[in-house]
Amino acid sequence: MLRSFRNINRRDFLKFCAGTATILGLSEAAVPRIARAVGDAAKKPPVIWLEGQDCAGCTISFINTSNPGTAEIVLDTISLRYHETLMAASGYVAEKALHDTIAEGGYVLIVEGSIPKADERFVQIADVPFVKTLNKAAANAAVVIAIGACATYGGIPRGTPSNGQGVGWAMENGLVPKKPLINLSTCPVHPEHLVGTIVYYLLFAKAPPMDSVARPLMFFDKLIHDNCERRGRFDNGEFLEDWNSFEERNSCLFLKGCKGPWTYADCPTRRWNDGLNWCIGCGAGCQGCSQPEFYTGMSPLYAKTKDIAGMRIETIGALLAGATAVGLAGHFIGQAATGRLGKGGPPEEGGES
Ligand code: SF4
Ligand code: F3S
Repeated sequence: MLRSFRNINRRDFLKFCAGTATILGLSEAAVPRIARAVGDAAKKPPVIWLEGQDCAGCTISFINTSNPGTAEIVLDTISLRYHETLMAASGYVAEKALHDTIAEGGYVLIVEGSIPKADERFVQIADVPFVKTLNKAAANAAVVIAIGACATYGGIPRGTPSNGQGVGWAMENGLVPKKPLINLSTCPVHPEHLVGTIVYYLLFAKAPPMDSVARPLMFFDKLIHDNCERRGRFDNGEFLEDWNSFEERNSCLFLKGCKGPWTYADCPTRRWNDGLNWCIGCGAGCQGCSQPEFYTGMSPLYAKTKDIAGMRIETIGALLAGATAVGLAGHFIGQAATGRLGKGGPPEEGGES
């Protein structure tokens, strides 16, 4: 059960606002404005949060933030009208809340989970196929925020018989009305990405600047590889080859399937679990969960699937301009010559999983 906003003291509330200013890249001067935007509940747009083909991991990720209660503050003050996992109501009462809010219009629609392309009956809620509810809810929404890998680009369900697809796909194919769409990929959604996007919308009444796949640039404009703490190891050609090797434990994970060179997200700097750690910090390669091609296009996760030729051209240019260029070029020529980098292209068969 969510705590009420009334139980959050002023100090925690201002701490939340200061943290949100940091998320948005704003200075401390913006804190009073954020406090006004978030605290003035009477003017908040209602929010509908729908779940399609999902594991509820994004919901869990969002409510798992620690003090001050980010989820409580945001969910309480944005007037969350419908959320299958969090709402106390059920049955006809819950459905009435959904349909009353849709009739009211002008709400923020948050979508978690994919849309089954193979057959709409894969996901039905209250006897209605999910895609039909999504269609109705999107029609009167002011803005749609797709959260997590599944709702943005299909994620893991896209590789299953249901052939799950993202909200953008449904809009492009006429199953859902076209509306302003913000994609917050990563599996699950990063709570700060969602908080930051909601507060940005409250502050500016529009979507933040986005990239070509509708991800906010404020969170997704940098390559993981360019900010990775193991980048020096990569540049020196120090790769982990044996998971059991103590000496190699902090080496670059490229040969073990790290997808950081092809993945855009701010994980190295924002990290996860309130800044505690992140995938590569834990010794696992980046799995590319923020990218449209995740999961099938990034699989197998623990095997190298592409060589360095697949890297963004700017990155290669930056590398070649750097002091390590000669050594690095030599390293990769050596790697390619010995076949350790593979030939690039589609995922190699038979990798570790
Ligand atoms: Fe970091 Fe992965 Fe790049 Fe290595 S390949 S530097 S582990 S992002
Ligand atoms: Fe995804 Fe970031 Fe890890 S993009 S796989 S959460 S490093």
